[in-house]
Amino acid sequence: MIREVLRMGDERLLQRAAVVESFGTPELAALLQDMRDTMAQLNGAGLAAPQIGVGLRVVIFGVKANPRYPEAEEVPDTVLINPVLQPLADEVEEDWEGCLSVPGMRGLVPRWHRLRYSGFDEQGRAFERSVSGFHARVVQHECDHLDGILYPMRIRDLSKFGFNDALFPGRELPPED
Ligand code: NI
Repeated sequence: MIREVLRMGDERLLQRAAVVESFGTPELAALLQDMRDTMAQLNGAGLAAPQIGVGLRVVIFGVKANPRYPEAEEVPDTVLINPVLQPLADEVEEDWEGCLSVPGMRGLVPRWHRLRYSGFDEQGRAFERSVSGFHARVVQHECDHLDGILYPMRIRDLSKFGFNDALFPGRELPPED
């Protein structure tokens, strides 16, 4: 079922989400289906459960490579629950991000370039991946939602925050997440 995505200003986006205790349940499956439906409807790159008003540490993400925005590399479709992120280097890079909860806008956001993330899939199986670049950025963006952090809160230079069509007139941009 397609759910409403909360927008910045809603205090539910600012709360810390709770750890998932039970896996493989009908409730978790229904939540993930709603998240997939909602993300697909909005052509998103990712979605965190708090964005649809569910305060649990669940995120999904995935991006197909698209020649119209080559800066966004392919990211596999992933369900990540109770994630833990660990940077693998001190290197931080800035790049543009958008968010389904801040629709129509972009900002330049610093993120770890390389990191390892670990967590659980919907059946409770543990997994981990070491990633960099755009994949690492998407994971950091999604996991920030679980701690009540929206990307505008991380922008260092607010002159690098604005509306898509004003910042990038006529350009096709990668999906929001
Ligand atoms: Ni977002």
